[in-house]
Amino acid sequence: MNEGVRVEAAAARIVPALRDMVRDLDLTTDELMAFVAWLGDVAASGELVLLSDVLGISRMVDDQTHAGAGGTASNVLGPFYVAGAPWIGNPGSIVRTEDDGDAITVRGCVTDAATGAPLDGAIVDVWHANSAGAYSNEDSTVGRWHLRGRQIAAADGSYSIDTVRPLHYTVKHDGPVGRLLETLGRHPWRPAHVHLMVTAAGYAPLVTQVYVANTPYLDDDTIGGVKPELVASVADGSLRFDIALAPEKAALAAAAG
Ligand code: BEZ
Ligand code: FE
Repeated sequence: MNEGVRVEAAAARIVPALRDMVRDLDLTTDELMAFVAWLGDVAASGELVLLSDVLGISRMVDDQTHAGAGGTASNVLGPFYVAGAPWIGNPGSIVRTEDDGDAITVRGCVTDAATGAPLDGAIVDVWHANSAGAYSNEDSTVGRWHLRGRQIAAADGSYSIDTVRPLHYTVKHDGPVGRLLETLGRHPWRPAHVHLMVTAAGYAPLVTQVYVANTPYLDDDTIGGVKPELVASVADGSLRFDIALAPEKAALAAAAG
């Protein structure tokens, strides 16, 4: 276990809560063994983070990690990020394989959250699902970098990325986490969104998502990721999303409490 992880404090909360649950529900040995087998299956299937996602814990921890940092709200990274996406011009396109979805432009300005000054040279790394709800690393018929790219913000902080409108999609639900969702009567859908990772020298990196207004599952995201301030409308073919980055010092001070 890494140093600095509050194992004792966490155990002091989790263990009594688990023991209370076992006592209150009068759990049997068969039920305990079934739970242990399921949890082992979650780990063996590489679904531990997905479990944290659908339990709403990833969102909570992300919020807590960035609380008080200032600037645009953060959001979970998700499993589909691939580092090193190709650079595109500004304006530029991330459509690398034909997609008959609606053409849209994701655009906005990157600014300093404290002063409002434009951040010339900020890097906007974008990735999202296609018009059928699939990421490039799930769809062997499209190129590796389809709907992924990095762009450098212009002198006025503007960025402009031509793409296609993403569709809502399901998280992985053919394994043990899917069985949990089914048992709980829950669906596996996420609303349509675009992921962004925005960085600039001297500023805290931002990982976030912009959600497309008036689309399914906005009020019922299976990972509970939606925040009202991250919902934007498509108007005149543009999904406008301005981004404010917190100066590194302010973000570090907030994290230190
Ligand atoms: C995503 O937004 O890509 C995502 C986040 C958590 C779980 C699955 C997918
Ligand atoms: Fe996603």
